[in-house]
Amino acid sequence: MSGAPIGLFDSGVGGLSIWRQVVHALSSEQLLYVADQAHVPYGHRSAAEIQAHSQAIADYLVAEGCKAIVVACNTASAVALEPLRQRFPQLPILGLEPAVKPAVQLTRSGVVGVMATPATFQGQLYRATVGRYATAVQVVEQVCVGLAELVEQGELEGPDCDARLMGYLEPMLAAGADTIVLGCTHYPFVIESIRRLVGPSMAVVDPAPAVARHLADVLAREGLLAPAERGPLEPASRYRFATTSSPSAFNRALSRLVGVSSSSQALIWQQRPDQSPVLHPA
Ligand code: DGL
Repeated sequence: MSGAPIGLFDSGVGGLSIWRQVVHALSSEQLLYVADQAHVPYGHRSAAEIQAHSQAIADYLVAEGCKAIVVACNTASAVALEPLRQRFPQLPILGLEPAVKPAVQLTRSGVVGVMATPATFQGQLYRATVGRYATAVQVVEQVCVGLAELVEQGELEGPDCDARLMGYLEPMLAAGADTIVLGCTHYPFVIESIRRLVGPSMAVVDPAPAVARHLADVLAREGLLAPAERGPLEPASRYRFATTSSPSAFNRALSRLVGVSSSSQALIWQQRPDQSPVLHPA
């Protein structure tokens, strides 16, 4: 079991911001990443839809023998993490929640901005996190409609991207935020532009390195780390990717966003009225 791959998924390419940190942290692990690009963005979908999509992908990852799953998507974690844990109680399933706790520790102005999708802000997980850690600070919630789509399209810089980002950043700046949380895994791919626009005095929190460290701790605790004698793996035997949309578009995004050239597999989404959705390899 410890030699099995780790499964990761997101609505699209955003979870690659988590994937690249897992690659650094765990060099002997095999990774299987699924991008549900047939349904990106998740952010404005209903909880039932997001749960159904997440369940289908988790079923696929389990069928592929994954020893652990990382829900590399704040939005899917917000509504699907608990149902997935109930479905696979024997499997470590890690999710993401906006990094409000570290932001509260960092802020000096007492104002923290959080950038995320509508579904993340509506989720119980986010509410509980704010209730637990952020009672003594002001939290400015910034829904970033369209930002995940921009990253999917590869529009990571330039005047149009900056103008869009400024539209999201201005309300947080106006409220006096000195710390901003990237509460969606797509957003670290525009972190350099965000940093340039807000200036060096603003702390911008990307939770991805902490998620990779937490994954390593969980695998160690469960006795699931890849066998030490395996050593670091070559990319070809290490990474697998699948998308529910166009493999060629995903392959281009892979090389643009994380500098990896690999060929992804196509997964076809099939939904029958009497059953939960299922994914089939094309
Ligand atoms: N990457 C996803 C997240 O972390 C969401 C983007 C979307 O599909 O709306 O929230």
